[in-house]
Amino acid sequence: MTSTTASHAADLVAALLFILSLAGLSQHRTSRAGVAYGIAGMALALVATIVVAAQSISAGAVALIVLAMALGAAIGLWRARRVEMTQMPELIAVLHSFVGLAAVLVGWNSYLEVESHGSAQTRIGADLLGIHHAEVFIGIFIGAVTFTGSIVAFLKLSGRTNSRPLMLPGKNGLNLGALAAFVALTVWFTAGPNLPLMVAVTVLALALGWHLVASIGGGDMPVVVSMLNSYSGWAAAAAGFLLNNNLLIVTGALVGSSGAYLSYIMCKAMNRSFLSVIAGGFGIEAPKGGEEEQGEHREIRAVEAAELLEQARSVIITPGYGMAVAQAQHPVAELTRRLRERGVEVRFGVHPVAGRLPGHMNVLLAEAKVPYDIVLEMDEINDDFAETSVVLVIGANDTVNPAAMDDPSSPIAGMPVLRVWEAEQVIVFKRSMASGYAGVQNPLFFRENSSMLFGDAEQSVSDILRALDADGRREPAPSARQATVAG
Ligand code: TAP
Repeated sequence: MTSTTASHAADLVAALLFILSLAGLSQHRTSRAGVAYGIAGMALALVATIVVAAQSISAGAVALIVLAMALGAAIGLWRARRVEMTQMPELIAVLHSFVGLAAVLVGWNSYLEVESHGSAQTRIGADLLGIHHAEVFIGIFIGAVTFTGSIVAFLKLSGRTNSRPLMLPGKNGLNLGALAAFVALTVWFTAGPNLPLMVAVTVLALALGWHLVASIGGGDMPVVVSMLNSYSGWAAAAAGFLLNNNLLIVTGALVGSSGAYLSYIMCKAMNRSFLSVIAGGFGIEAPKGGEEEQGEHREIRAVEAAELLEQARSVIITPGYGMAVAQAQHPVAELTRRLRERGVEVRFGVHPVAGRLPGHMNVLLAEAKVPYDIVLEMDEINDDFAETSVVLVIGANDTVNPAAMDDPSSPIAGMPVLRVWEAEQVIVFKRSMASGYAGVQNPLFFRENSSMLFGDAEQSVSDILRALDADGRREPAPSARQATVAG
């Protein structure tokens, strides 16, 4: 077998492993195997690429590649060990920006190589030169949009900039104009490539990426992250064409299409228009409503919350981002266990975008060993709130905001939410009256049946556990109680 045949075989096996990886990651049960397939596929792809490259480049160049990989692996391991679960989307956004930047550099390199060596030496036939020029332009465009878009997503997700949508006058016209300019520039470049056009498309795409994501509000950021995931895949596929690397084309297409599909599913779950979100909030008007308070709120102490829970028949816990920040999942699991021992029915209601990444709450609850069968999806539990004695909203805000249903001018209008306010009593665990990720106030806090339990969620739930303990000690043991009744 020649080395080229071996490398094609390795590419094929790696591509199959990536497909198996995606299939494995689609289900909780098989996700570990999915990760293992992905690692195996990537390791095989890297080895095959280096072996093939080693035949046409100097030993020094191979050593540089290995050095760069070792450095990248060390930084990757260091970051992966340190990153908090709540910072995962920001990390993913930064990684997407690297893919975008790589695609831009590959495009520029490919252009400069053809310019300096001519098409003959770069093995591009004269008849294919036009296609090559178009590939360069498209690769740079997708890569640069992904690069700045991902940086803006990182800044918004990490709270370094406001998550509210930027509403420039005529923003839809700006986006459409940029797309039209790109098409015109591509035609021009294909006919007569030159450096000023390269600079123009790079600047245009950098500005468009920044504007597209800046125009999308906080509530839609989950979709943006998976959309950028998709763009980074297409950027990689474009780089694959330029580098003549089939595996990169296949892998890029897999990432691009699965990211696009995930964005579509999320848009459906959040009742958002897919086209509007990928077009930078096309058709979405400037949101009204802000962080101002909307009436009087009531406060409750942990001891009183414990009393309410002791008397409850049924309890639903709706966790959100604050539970992750406070790392309150362990005391929440303990509270669940204690209440169930007392005969209270306890279930969890998980919103599809609670927290900061898909499945965030499920992972935390599984880590704290909450039984899987009492953790229900929003659609499975939403009709049960009306028959529930107490709902504990633990660090959730946007996902339980009635304004999404009642107020058409709200930035999160139309997003399906957990209808917690239908329960007899709602206790909201948070530290202040501050708004949630989307930056809108929550009328739930001012409802008649809602009470605020202020403080860090971990601390508040632990206080409730202590109050339950104290009550347990005061209560006579079951046998003593029976004796008293009998006496
Ligand atoms: P959010 O609306 O983000 O609200 C979280 C609440 O937790 C805040 O109001 C905050 O209030 C409270 N909190 C923070 N730290 C706390 C602590 N230590 N103890 C107690 N409370 C604490 O949460 P959500 O309901 O889960 O909604 C998620 C939001 O993130 C949605 O808007 C969603 O679109 C967006 N998003 C989701 C994803 C995915 S895929 N899940 C990705 C990106 C963005 P205080 O500051 O007053 O404590």
